[in-house]
Amino acid sequence: MSQVSPDLSVQIGPVTFENPIFTASGTWGYGLEYTDIAPPGPLGGVVTKTLTMEPRLGNTQPRVREQPHGLLNSIGLENVGINAFLGEKLPRLRFLNASVIVSLAGRDEDEFATLIQRLAQFPGWAGVELNLSCPNVARGGLDFGQDPVRIERITALARAALPADRSLWVKLTPNVSSIGDLAKAAEQGGAHAVTCINTVLGVEVNLQERRPVFPRAVAGYSGPAILPIALAKVLETARAVSIPVVGVGGIGSIDDALAFFVVGASAVQVGTSLFPEPDLANRMVEQFSARLTELGAASPRELRWEGLAG
Ligand code: FUM
Repeated sequence: MSQVSPDLSVQIGPVTFENPIFTASGTWGYGLEYTDIAPPGPLGGVVTKTLTMEPRLGNTQPRVREQPHGLLNSIGLENVGINAFLGEKLPRLRFLNASVIVSLAGRDEDEFATLIQRLAQFPGWAGVELNLSCPNVARGGLDFGQDPVRIERITALARAALPADRSLWVKLTPNVSSIGDLAKAAEQGGAHAVTCINTVLGVEVNLQERRPVFPRAVAGYSGPAILPIALAKVLETARAVSIPVVGVGGIGSIDDALAFFVVGASAVQVGTSLFPEPDLANRMVEQFSARLTELGAASPRELRWEGLAG
């Protein structure tokens, strides 16, 4: 008897993605840097490096430091700016048949909507992810993302500016006492999905000099060490909201990715593990159906833990 292939598609708001494996913002450039070994087309989608209205040079060095079980970064939202992205990067992504989620950060609440209005003049993108959780900037990061009132307001402004056929995701910080409250605020504001989690706050110390290593002292911690934290935050979030949850944090293998579906995710993003293995997300797409079949599931939705509802 022939086996029916698992259904990998996932609908998030008005957009249906072919599969639920995405790259995480800031870990795979603009989706164009590895096309010889890892083309973006077969992925569920590419989430771009966060874009701002003007180009940004980012923070001073050091900006990335390897740790025994992960990575600390303090990049400071270095990016080419929305206009260079639209002129130089987006047409190439379109040519490569990539499904593109554009990560955005505004300096103030209104700028998120302004960025979307600019984006709306161009074809070739499926949605946006509001980065309300960058720990490495003085303004427009955690100051927005730790406050449910601001999350709801920014999300509502963004939703009003978004074309009706595009998907709106909000990326949340785990550095709060209740990520569920942040997720509810995003849902209330009209988000189609929440992405959990951005990096965990971390510090590396230079003992000799008796000071933190990073110029801003605190940086963002990611990689294998945060997998259990990310799973716990996704579980909490999935219990708090009805919209899809996109799980991210510490994924290094197909089974790590599948674990997120058990705790309530509808899609996943692969991040820090792409630095040593830029083709990892592509390989996961290839492995996905066979591994689901081995687990006796006809779709990732069937992995969901029955006890999730409470
Ligand atoms: O510093 C950075 O560019 C990091 C961004 C983020 O974690 O969202």
